[in-house]
Amino acid sequence: MSDGIKMQHERANRLHGDSTEGLWDYHYTRDPLIRYLRDRRLHRALTELDNRGRLDVATQSVLLVCAGVGGEGTFLANQGFVDVTVSDLSEKALGLCRRFDKRLKTRFLNAEQMSEIEDGGYDVVLVQDGLHHLPRPISGFTEMLRVASNAVVVIEPHTGLVARAIGKTWEIDGEAVNYVFRWNRNILEQATRSYLLRNDAEVISCRFFDHNLVVNRLVSKLRLPRRLQLLAARCVYRLLDLVAPMGNMMVGIVLKPSGPSPQRLVGH
Ligand SMILES: C[S@@+](CC[C@H](N)C(=O)[O-])C[C@H]1O[C@@H](n2cnc3c(N)ncnc32)[C@H](O)[C@@H]1O
Repeated sequence: MSDGIKMQHERANRLHGDSTEGLWDYHYTRDPLIRYLRDRRLHRALTELDNRGRLDVATQSVLLVCAGVGGEGTFLANQGFVDVTVSDLSEKALGLCRRFDKRLKTRFLNAEQMSEIEDGGYDVVLVQDGLHHLPRPISGFTEMLRVASNAVVVIEPHTGLVARAIGKTWEIDGEAVNYVFRWNRNILEQATRSYLLRNDAEVISCRFFDHNLVVNRLVSKLRLPRRLQLLAARCVYRLLDLVAPMGNMMVGIVLKPSGPSPQRLVGH
C-alpha cells in the first residue's frame, strides 16, 4: 500500500470501528426525507441508464467501489438488483455492511488496483463520494472502466466556482488527508477515451446541485410534519435545478461499447 492509501485505510478502519448505536442508520432508514436526500443522485444514475436501455436489475451484476458500510448496495438491492457486491478498503466497514444487509456480498478492494478482478468482471461498476479519497483518482476511474463490461457510474463533486466556494479543497481527518478532486465532462471524456481508445463509448455527464446535509439541516428546522419537510426539500432542489449548470455535483456515466478496443485488448 502506498502512504496515501495506508492513511485512508487507517482512517476508514478508525471511523468504522466506532460502535455508537445508530451512527450508520441514515444508510438504511426508511424515513422518506432521508431517503429522498440520500438517494436522489443514485436515482438519477439509474434513470440515465434506463433511458438508454442499459439497466436490467434482474440480470446485471454490480460492483460498488469505495462503498463503505454499503448504503448504496442497500439502495440497489431495494431497487431489485440481485447481484450486488460492496467493496472498500476498510475491513471494518465491510463487517458492518455484512451485519446490516445480508443481501449484499462484500469484497476487500483497493480501488486503485483491482487486479484480482478480470476485465469486464462486473456489468455495472459504481462509485459515490469515493474517488476523491484516492491519491490517484484517475487510476481508480480507469480500473472501474477495466472491470466493467456495460457501464461505469461516477457520482463525485463537480468542479466550478460555486463548488469551490462552498466545498472543501482538502479533507483532513487526523493524519489522513485527501485533496477533493472535482470532475467535469471534459475530464471524464478524456480519461475515458485515453483508456478505452474508443470513440463509440458514450460519455454522459449530468451536473446539478446536491448537498444532503445542508438541505436536511435547513428543512429539519421548519416546525412542520415530516411530509411537509420532504416537500420543502423537493422545492429547494427544484429551485436549484434552475441553476444546475453551475452545480457542485456530477453523475458521470460511461456506456462501454461491446468488443475489444481496436488498438489493444482492454476487455469488453
Ligand atoms: C466518504 S466514504 C463514502 C462511502 C460511500 N460511498 C457513501 O457514499 O456512503 C469514502 C470511502 O472510501 C473508502 N476508501 C478510501 N480509499 C479507498 C481505496 N483506495 N480503495 C477502496 N476504498 C477506499 C473509505 O474506506 C470510505 O469507506
